[in-house]
Amino acid sequence: EGHAAVAVAGAARRRVLFFPLPFQGHISPMFHLAGVLHARGFAVTVFYPDFFNAPDPSRHPAFDFVPDGIPPDVAAAGRVAETILAMNAAMEREGASPSVREVLTSVIAADEVGQPPVACLIIDTHLLAVQKAAAGLGLPTLVLRTGGAACLRCFLAYDMLLEKGYLPPKESHLYEPVKELPPLRVRDLVHTDDEMVFKILARIAETVRNSKGVVINTFEELEPIELEQLCGELTNNGAATMLAVGPLHKLSSINTGSSLNLRPDQDCIKWLDKQAMGSVLYVSFGSLASLEYGEFMEVAHGLEKSDHPFLWVVRPDLLRGIDGFEDRVEEVLLDGFEDRVEGKGKIVQWAPQQEVLAHHAVGGFWTHCGWNSVLESIGEGPMICMPQFADQIINTRYVQAVWGAGFDLEGKLDREKITKAIRKLMSEKEGAEMKRKVGELKNRVAHCLKSNGSSQIAMDKLVHYI
Ligand code: UDX
Repeated sequence: EGHAAVAVAGAARRRVLFFPLPFQGHISPMFHLAGVLHARGFAVTVFYPDFFNAPDPSRHPAFDFVPDGIPPDVAAAGRVAETILAMNAAMEREGASPSVREVLTSVIAADEVGQPPVACLIIDTHLLAVQKAAAGLGLPTLVLRTGGAACLRCFLAYDMLLEKGYLPPKESHLYEPVKELPPLRVRDLVHTDDEMVFKILARIAETVRNSKGVVINTFEELEPIELEQLCGELTNNGAATMLAVGPLHKLSSINTGSSLNLRPDQDCIKWLDKQAMGSVLYVSFGSLASLEYGEFMEVAHGLEKSDHPFLWVVRPDLLRGIDGFEDRVEEVLLDGFEDRVEGKGKIVQWAPQQEVLAHHAVGGFWTHCGWNSVLESIGEGPMICMPQFADQIINTRYVQAVWGAGFDLEGKLDREKITKAIRKLMSEKEGAEMKRKVGELKNRVAHCLKSNGSSQIAMDKLVHYI
């Protein structure tokens, strides 16, 4: 209730527009932020794609939804990086119908027909095209960074990293520290000679610097140094303010379900209910990461050999290059894997992850270290980290070297290594120490969420600022 008082007088007559990037790891935090601001009295309009990863508007009756106008061919762009650039290009394309400018204009014009007037637009950091269109219409933009502060600090430093010769990386320097960005090493940076990725990083920097403020899904007690540096840099170079309001999933109970049209499998909770306390390893590689057939088989055999109960999320598109995989897990595994692990292992296509991580039977998480997964696991259980791309590598470094909440399963996947890692996490002294660190992190999360905690104060500031 303390916070109801902070809802700005008249906020009920103001509308905030939300423009997420249509991927699960970006949609969820944006919806959580929308949920919090709605609870503080703002009207909410969400732009959503109707061609892929569309959230289901009927699950969110309090929000208004407006199609984002992005044409369906963008969905076929391929990799995430390609999709992001194709989406922006489609929105900027001359003669596009409707252009993003038209989409925004139609919502602003709704003010005249009795809708609450628009206060601002909150966009994902990947949507420079939307920001440019909004600027042309005099609509102020805030940016929601769905990843962590360490990662954003690193992304903003790419010019420096290239200038100082850290990038492109030399094989012999991979384990050298990047002394400007401790505790990162050269190998933790986004390694690529791919122009497309640099373009994306440069666009993120431009979007962030041109915004009226950056809202970031992390919290003071988790990344204090990184936030301080970021704040100094951003507020001196463009963005007017920076507010750490995370972990957003703890501030809002909105459930976005799955943008992949998969239902979270609630049976796995019943299955977990039957398992011993802290005995189950939860295995999930998020919504985008995928495995080669050989890697998939090593994971399966490693899990089986570890002799620990496991709950494994096998998304229909987890295995690269095998269509219709969802109906053929057993066939792909060939050798009766599901029969052999019957009772000891459970496979689902999509899990209610937050519920799973909070379940008393779950003792550890084997994760790809997407930022949402890391935030959800902090305070719940220790992690085996298997990063694949982008921020996942930086997140892994922090989980291991800064928070002591897990370790990196470095190198090529093989079943022996996997089995050893699972045992280390679930039944050895090192794992127990990581569990203890996670307990400390849980206290830090609780602290930032108290009514005078850092994230609540930041959220109050955001409400006033809007
Ligand atoms: C992507 C990038 O991969 C990641 O690096 C970046 O930080 C965010 O965008 P994604 O792969 O989707 O993220 O991973 P993550 O950020 O962990 O988000 C996945 C979300 O899906 C989590 O909120 C998780 O709870 C949810 N999830 C995943 C489920 O609810 N059920 C599942 O079975 C698997």
